[in-house]
Amino acid sequence: MSGRKRIGILTGGGDAPGLNAVLRAVVRTAGDDAEVIGVLDGFAGLLDGRFQHLGKPDVRELIRMGGTILGTTNRDNPFACRGEHGPVDRSADCLEHARKAGLEALIVIGGDGTLRIASELGKLGLDVIGVPKTIDNDLASTDYTFGFWTAIGVATEALDRLRDTAESHHRVMVLEVMGRTAGWIALHAGIAGAADVILIPEIPYTPESVARTVVSCQGRGRASSLIVVAEGAVSKGGEMSVHSVDTTTGVVRLGGAGQRVVRELEALTRCDVRATVLGHLQRGGSPVAFDRILATRFGEAAARLAIAGRCGRMVRLACGRIEDVDLDEAVREIKLVDPGDPLVQTARSLGIAFGDE
Ligand code: F6P
Repeated sequence: MSGRKRIGILTGGGDAPGLNAVLRAVVRTAGDDAEVIGVLDGFAGLLDGRFQHLGKPDVRELIRMGGTILGTTNRDNPFACRGEHGPVDRSADCLEHARKAGLEALIVIGGDGTLRIASELGKLGLDVIGVPKTIDNDLASTDYTFGFWTAIGVATEALDRLRDTAESHHRVMVLEVMGRTAGWIALHAGIAGAADVILIPEIPYTPESVARTVVSCQGRGRASSLIVVAEGAVSKGGEMSVHSVDTTTGVVRLGGAGQRVVRELEALTRCDVRATVLGHLQRGGSPVAFDRILATRFGEAAARLAIAGRCGRMVRLACGRIEDVDLDEAVREIKLVDPGDPLVQTARSLGIAFGDE
């Protein structure tokens, strides 16, 4: 139908349950007002001009599907692409392909890294709209990102399962969860799963303090203890456990915090300690209802902004309402757990230790 707007949509960075629900909401809201063009594989697809038309039949049933039908990657930064002699700026290719495809607006669904790239492309003239997404919930401008509550559900179930086997074997179980430099997943899952200790990056711990808590649990007749450790947790004066660093993009992959805690406890106690790394189980699967609804509300709001030509904005959740804010400002900061956060206080009131006592 001529005269319809053409809206592009791209999913970037690590996937999060609810991405497909956003795609569905954008397509259904666009209706007859706009044609929706999906960009394949995140910025990699924009760099190479790989697109796919998205119509209503393409998004049927998507509300309950994990992953993203468009594909995503967190390796491709158009401003620092892999080149023979080091990083190459190919941002102009993105603008060129968007122009050739006739995109009048590009909805970018991503975490802080992806949305910062979108904001920079916006400054070069691409009409972008941001949708915040990450299981880490570490974007400062929105109360919640979709995917977070699904990840907490998975982590809480893991703690429940670990408790059964920990009790049987009189063991200390350590569960390492994702979250990068933020402890939101560990904090929420630790409370919901009734952990004895929560270790998060924002509250450095001492192994001695964690060991005291574990031993005192046994002193009170408990057969087992549960420790949830965020992948970015640090001991006082220590450093995060890094798995690897991508030399082109500088992206740091964390990993190993759980095993580190095992080694520390084995050195300080006579406990039988085991670690489980929950990993990408937190990112897959069907989104819980909260994430489906949030993703749907974000998708609807982003489509309306695109149709109205209001670009350079990011949708967000603020006190239950969907709003939009300046994209550039929205991505300046990430949101970490304040050690004085009411949820930390709640956990402490319930007797959960943070290893800093
Ligand atoms: O940002 C989401 C996240 O899942 C982090 O919690 C985690 O550190 C990272 O992505 C893992 O990335 P990858 O899938 O590239 O290993």
